[in-house]
Amino acid sequence: MLTRAEYIRMSLESHLFWARIMKEHLIFMEAGFVSKDVNLIQQAKLLKNASTALLADAVNLANGVVSADSIAAQEFVTNNTLPAEEKTQQLSGIPINTSITCAEMALRGNLGFVDVPGLARAVSSLNQRGIVLSAQIAEFKRLVRDSVLSCTLFTWNFPLLLDHIRREALMYNANLIKFQRGENPHDPVMAAQLEAFWNRLMEEHALFIRNYLDPTEEELFETAQAFAARFDELTEEAEAAAAGQDQINVITQRSLDATRSIRDFKKTGTEGILMCTIKGLIAPLLADHVTREANHYIRMLTKLQAGL
Ligand SMILES: [Fe+2]
Ligand SMILES: [Fe+2]
Repeated sequence: MLTRAEYIRMSLESHLFWARIMKEHLIFMEAGFVSKDVNLIQQAKLLKNASTALLADAVNLANGVVSADSIAAQEFVTNNTLPAEEKTQQLSGIPINTSITCAEMALRGNLGFVDVPGLARAVSSLNQRGIVLSAQIAEFKRLVRDSVLSCTLFTWNFPLLLDHIRREALMYNANLIKFQRGENPHDPVMAAQLEAFWNRLMEEHALFIRNYLDPTEEELFETAQAFAARFDELTEEAEAAAAGQDQINVITQRSLDATRSIRDFKKTGTEGILMCTIKGLIAPLLADHVTREANHYIRMLTKLQAGL
């Protein structure tokens, strides 16, 4: 069971990471619909606004409460998040609230503010809101994915991407339900299942990068393909460990090495896209988004390895 302090700290860290991830998925969805699909664009906007409000409330509660580790991991914001938002806003015409990003960049960790009266209650109500919202977002993504798969809808987002972001919304939802039961969603006994889930996400990121690159970017295409193959193997190995056929420890170390490598690739890629030296269909914010997801996974793997 989580202590009161762990419950508060870990819940807020989860919102800082996932509420931003949800808000950005909805930006990518909004940008991907064709102009005639006004209802879907409107639904994406409403869910994006609700995610933005949730994130803003989490930021207000988080200062001095979350761990210094979580801030240093650059899973909430990176050095590239603000320029990536500004550029994506300029290119897409979709307004992006950058004041939250600035507030997140100023967040401080480990100041011991966890004893503030009423904080556990405020976090609990934030978690309940997050449970409802993440379920609504997952359902919206399912509906869009299924419409694309039945060829009744066109969007510039691949079906695999729609399914991928749906699984991420479900993971956010499942984590919050665990917090409300006093459980740690990243319990080391779950290492194999967590690594199977996240290695698959890393594999799919490599596939998205590969397929959204301009066809002339052959070298980057090959690198992305190699990452996809490496994470495909790691996913299978983690799945075998989850089924009790293998030891997870060695896989954790290899997953960590591979995730650090793909994180560096994504970070360099974001900077290349921002400097206009990489051709393709990847929005700067999407490149930074997948970098943050790798940073989140790296911190998780480090803790799993330490048995924390
Ligand atoms: Fe994502
Ligand atoms: Fe992802």
